[in-house]
Amino acid sequence: MSNSLSGKKILLGVCGSIAAYKAAILTRLLVKQNVEVQILMTKSATHFITPLTLSTLSKRKVISRFFEDGHKQWNNHVELGLWADAMLIAPASGSTIARLATGMCNDVLAATYLSARCPVFVAPAMDLDMWQHPATQRNIDYLKEVGNQIVPVGDGELASGLSGPGRLAEPEDIVQFLQQFFDKQDSGNEQPTLEGETVIITAGPTYEPIDPVRFIGNRSSGRMGIALAEEAARQGAKVSLVLGPTDLRPTNSAIEVVPVQTAQQMYEATVARFPSATIGILAAAVADYTPVETSDVKIKKKTSDLVLQLTKTKDILAHLGSIKKENQRLVGFALETNNEEENAQKKLVKKNLDFIVLNSLRNKGAGFRHTTNQITILDRHNNKSHYELKSKEAVATDIIQYLITHF
Ligand code: CTP
Repeated sequence: MSNSLSGKKILLGVCGSIAAYKAAILTRLLVKQNVEVQILMTKSATHFITPLTLSTLSKRKVISRFFEDGHKQWNNHVELGLWADAMLIAPASGSTIARLATGMCNDVLAATYLSARCPVFVAPAMDLDMWQHPATQRNIDYLKEVGNQIVPVGDGELASGLSGPGRLAEPEDIVQFLQQFFDKQDSGNEQPTLEGETVIITAGPTYEPIDPVRFIGNRSSGRMGIALAEEAARQGAKVSLVLGPTDLRPTNSAIEVVPVQTAQQMYEATVARFPSATIGILAAAVADYTPVETSDVKIKKKTSDLVLQLTKTKDILAHLGSIKKENQRLVGFALETNNEEENAQKKLVKKNLDFIVLNSLRNKGAGFRHTTNQITILDRHNNKSHYELKSKEAVATDIIQYLITHF
């Protein structure tokens, strides 16, 4: 791991959120990377985690007010803003995000934000509906527009009991996000990107209709493919996402989303776009079989047995592999339960891929329904790379980096 964070001075702004406890882990990770961490807390944050914990971990006095010792001492937010190499607000609550977006500076954290000349990173944390509310999204868009870096939210179980986007990104992923930013800055932004590339990505499940109310489907959420689309777009590519039935959508509006239902529709949409693409990444969980006949009316319960005749769907990835041109790169996925590497290797060769991303259902936290994934990449030059369990966003970064640096 590069050490572009070493020696940096970072202001860590902590807001009132159940996720505030993760600020302790974040502080430890940053201190371990030889970062000087100055913590600022909102008043509400002090109800969730004690300043004592954070000052012990950061080895610096935590600042949560403009004045100390009954107005005898002033915490100079302008000096703090100028001292820092970066400001990271994690967790950033909905209310603080709104204050930052409107320039309200009614506490030391928000006042320091206005004084900061360094890059600012905002890692939001809130409940699903708060996160998706147009007011929050407008504030986030505005913060991005004026040059702040937004750390993507996690997706999964929330403190409210709901499940969906809004979780604070994992501390490891936040550190990785910062590190990538400074890596890029250190190398004068000369790192290779996907600038000028056109990428087609498939994601999500397919639904094969049996009758108007029933279908054959699978548990894919599309999260991995959507994360890949976001990362490819972030790296400058023009991205089309052929997306099976799922409620999830990319947040970057520059990504063309082509919604499809069935394997046949996914095949047609992907094959039509591939000739003008330079890269194909097929992450969808396509049904391998589809009913031979679809009933126009709901099938009634009559006999004790019902036999459905199924026929094979077209293998989109294999077809793209067979028409792939010299200037095109093709990446596939393999979800395996046994003989994982052997099966993935066979698919790599058979489908004429540049590399294949293997996730085994045996690995806890990997595959469908999880917000995390653990992958192994096998490429056509016989290289093999194992990765740790990470959020799907961080896995997407690894996959896109592999593509950029190896092909
Ligand atoms: N795939 C595809 N079209 C299909 C089936 C699979 O494009 N009809 C792609 C998937 O998107 C994935 C890769 O092929 O990138 C491997 O999918 P997987 O289901 O693991 O493998 P299969 O080739 O279907 O083989 P099997 O189900 O027998 O393991």
